[in-house]
Amino acid sequence: MARLGFATALLLGGLASSRPGAALEPYAVVGDAIPKALGAHAGDVARGQAILRDRERGNCLICHQGADPVEPFQGAIGPSLAGIGARLDAGQIRLRLVDASRLNPETVMPPYYRSEGLQDVAPAYRGKPALSEQEIEDVVAYLASLKTF
Ligand code: HEC
Repeated sequence: MARLGFATALLLGGLASSRPGAALEPYAVVGDAIPKALGAHAGDVARGQAILRDRERGNCLICHQGADPVEPFQGAIGPSLAGIGARLDAGQIRLRLVDASRLNPETVMPPYYRSEGLQDVAPAYRGKPALSEQEIEDVVAYLASLKTF
């Protein structure tokens, strides 16, 4: 599907801005969630919103609508994230960001905290996750705060 190819190309372009490589934090999956936060610091709602909007980092809006009231050009490849914090808890949101393919191996949602088994990653970015632990926690904090709209 041409639209998906375009989305993937934009997304991989965005990986360029992720931090330099570092070992991934280990995490434990319990059911359909990662209950414990990654890293040592709590997520920040405002930073999480900025990452979600950022076309070079999260680039979430290329596939999702409903999580941002103002940004134009929100896609509909993935489900709406409106009220996501009322449907999923923080741990469930965390697993979907870290590696949604653990729940649906066919998903087109990129794994944001995985550095292996990725395809079409430019050599300079191999071995690095798309988002850092802190960035994952920031996005989790933002999405968990979306209880109503
Ligand atoms: C290339 C498209 C794409 C991008 C980019 C993308 N997603 Fe997704 N996302 C999906 C799809 C498709 C699903 C549905 C899961 C499945 O395929 O089983 C999904 C599922 C989700 C879910 C679970 C929703 C639910 O109702 O269960 C969350 C939360 C989510 N995405 C958040 C994000 C965030 C935050 C970002 C950016 C950091 C992002 N997604 C980037 C395509 C995308």
